[in-house]
Amino acid sequence: MTERKPLRIGMIGCGEIAYTATGPAICETSNAEMVLAMDPVPDIAESFGRRFDIPWTTTLNEVLERPDIEAVLISTPHDTHCSLTEAAARAGKHVMVEKPIACTLVEADRMIAACREAGVWLSVNFVLRYDSGPLDVRRLVASGAIGEVIAVSFRSVGRKPDHYWTGGYTNRVQTDWRKYRKRAGGGVLIMNFIHNLDLLRFMTGLEVSRVYAEYGTFLTPVEVEDIITMTLRFHNGAVGALVGATCMDGHVRLAPVSLGGSRTEILHETVEDNSDRIYGTRGQIRMQGRHVWVYTRESVEGLKRDDWTRLDLTPTNARANYVEAFARTVRQGRPPEISGEEGRKALEIVEAAYRSCVEGRPLTLPLSLP
Ligand SMILES: NC(=O)c1ccc[n+]([C@@H]2O[C@H](COP(=O)([O-])OP(=O)(O)OC[C@H]3O[C@@H](n4cnc5c(N)ncnc54)[C@H](O)[C@@H]3O)[C@@H](O)[C@H]2O)c1
Repeated sequence: MTERKPLRIGMIGCGEIAYTATGPAICETSNAEMVLAMDPVPDIAESFGRRFDIPWTTTLNEVLERPDIEAVLISTPHDTHCSLTEAAARAGKHVMVEKPIACTLVEADRMIAACREAGVWLSVNFVLRYDSGPLDVRRLVASGAIGEVIAVSFRSVGRKPDHYWTGGYTNRVQTDWRKYRKRAGGGVLIMNFIHNLDLLRFMTGLEVSRVYAEYGTFLTPVEVEDIITMTLRFHNGAVGALVGATCMDGHVRLAPVSLGGSRTEILHETVEDNSDRIYGTRGQIRMQGRHVWVYTRESVEGLKRDDWTRLDLTPTNARANYVEAFARTVRQGRPPEISGEEGRKALEIVEAAYRSCVEGRPLTLPLSLP
C-alpha cells in the first residue's frame, strides 16, 4: 500500500549536520529512507554514502532526474538554499530545507512561490519544535497555566571553538562560508538564535510586531556578528529581551559532547545563567536544559500552586520526529507542520533585526521588501 511505503529522500549536501545528525535521525524513522547522497565534494559525498550504505554522487541532476526520489533534504550553506529549492521544485520533489529558509525574504518568497507553482511541499527544519520541552511549554501556555504572556527573556550565549569558522564543530568540511554575511546571511542570529525565535512563536503563539536590535563583532575574526541584543514588541502588547552570542568567556566546559560520533567542544554557560523565561499574568515558565520549571498562581492539575514545579522532560529524537512528521503529511497529502511560510516568519524577525542594526531604529513588521 502506498500509505506504508517510506518516503524516498535524496540528500543534497552531506556536510556536518547531515552526517552527524540528520542521516542518523532518518535511519531511526519508520516512514522515510535515504536513497541517494549528493555533495559537490567527492570525499564528503562518498563518506556519507559509505556510512549510510547508500549510493552517492557529485551531480545535482542525478538526484533531480531520479523519478523514484520523492523529496530532497537540503543541508547546504545558506546562500544556496534558494536556487537548490527552486531546482528541486521544478523537478517535482518535495523539499525539506535546513534553517534558515534563506539569507533574505526575497529569496524565501521565491522558494515558497516555486514550490507552490510546482505543487510540492516546502518545509523548514526547525527540528527543536519536536523536542519534549517546547511541546510541554506550548501546552502549558495554551492551557492558561501562567495567564496571558506579558514578557519573554531568551538567551543563547556561548563560545564557539576557533575551528568552527573554518570547519564547523567537527572539521568534517573545510569551508569558510559561516564567516561571511553574503554566504551565511549573518552570524549568531541567523545561524543559531533563529531557532529561539521560532520556538518563541511556537510556544507562545505570539507574533512579533516591532524589533529593535544592536549588534557587533567583538572577539571573532569574522565579518558576521558575534553578539546581538534585541528588544521585541508582540501583537498582544507583550515585550521581549533577547541576547545571542558566540564569543563569551566564563563558561563551563561540559565533557566533550558527541555529535553523531564526532567529539566536539561546545562551551555552555553555567547552568544557573542560561535559562529562557516566559512571564505571564499568573506565573512564569523557566526552561533550562532538560528541565522546565513552572510557577503558577492558578490551580492546575500536576502543578503546585503559588510555588515552583519542576517538570522532567522525556528524552526524544526531535530530528527524527521532524522527518517522520514531514513524511506522514506528504503521504496524507496535507501541508507540512513547519511550512515555508513559517520559516519565512522567523526570517522576517531576523531581517528586521539586521535592518534595525544598520539603520539604528526600531522596525515594524510586516517589513516592506526592496
Ligand atoms: N537544524 C539544525 O539544528 C542545524 C544545525 C546545524 C546546521 N544547520 C544548517 O544546516 C545547513 C548546513 O550546515 P552544515 O553545518 O552541515 O554545513 P557544512 O559546511 O558542514 O556542510 C554543507 C555541505 O554542503 C555542500 N554544498 C555546498 N554547496 C552545495 C550545493 N550547491 N549543492 C549541494 N551541496 C553543496 C558542501 O560541500 C558541504 O559538504 C545550514 O543551513 C545550517 O544552518 C542546521
